[in-house]
Amino acid sequence: MLTPFREILEERRAAGAAVGAFTCYDVTTAIAVVRAAEARGDPVLLLASEGSFRSSWGRLLLPALVAVADEARVPALVQLDHVDDVELIDAALAAGAGAVMADGSKLPTSDNAAFVAGVRARAPEAGVEAELGHIEGGEDVAAAAEAGALTDPDEAARFVAETGCDCLAVSIGNVHGKYARPPELDWDRLRAVDDRVDVPLSLHGASGIPDVDVRRAISLGVCKVNVNTELRERYLAQLEAGLPGARDGLRLLELGAGLVDGVAQAVTAKLSVLAG
Ligand code: 13P
Repeated sequence: MLTPFREILEERRAAGAAVGAFTCYDVTTAIAVVRAAEARGDPVLLLASEGSFRSSWGRLLLPALVAVADEARVPALVQLDHVDDVELIDAALAAGAGAVMADGSKLPTSDNAAFVAGVRARAPEAGVEAELGHIEGGEDVAAAAEAGALTDPDEAARFVAETGCDCLAVSIGNVHGKYARPPELDWDRLRAVDDRVDVPLSLHGASGIPDVDVRRAISLGVCKVNVNTELRERYLAQLEAGLPGARDGLRLLELGAGLVDGVAQAVTAKLSVLAG
């Protein structure tokens, strides 16, 4: 059931848990994500990457993800992830996205704040997530990355007050894609940001972060955890395993069912870590 972003985050915060936000490049993945969330009774977010929304078929994918989220028997919504283009933001919201990740993190902080405040003003009802500091790595390419510019706690307090964002993505040593070396998250920084900022925090680049660290991040104010790379890995492994059997008899339905099961298992494992 489509549910406002703020409501989902506040419920998770009150439960001492985090909502899982999973990148879906197709409807098969979205069905797997929702099925896993329904089995646990957990809320869930379906992420559409900017790259897929920009593609020729992306304008069709996002409404399809919205339909899957709407049918879900748990609170759900679709968020356009990491977008710095207001026309794309308007198009995604018009297509039914309930939230956007207004990513001005490559800009100087004052420009980032002005961009996010502008998105807030354009879309008062939508969920608006912002990023301060910069999380390195590609959202659509799972290459190894090093930590980027870290979030400054004092700046974060001013930034949230100025922008009116609903959720703040922190850069504390986390990266998108694969970790070039085992992640060492800056716990003191996360604690300081959480002390100074009253909106829920989000942790991007959760693929490859040990479960114990994800749980620790949740205990320090993280209420939303983004996962992409681990799902793609599982999807491709499942596809490889299912292909030989599917070729014989062109069993596409069976191949699809195997993909849903495999991806759902990966989502279930992650959701169990986020339960608090
Ligand atoms: P990973 O690909 O590292 O899981 O990151 C996902 C993400 O943060 C999407 O915004």
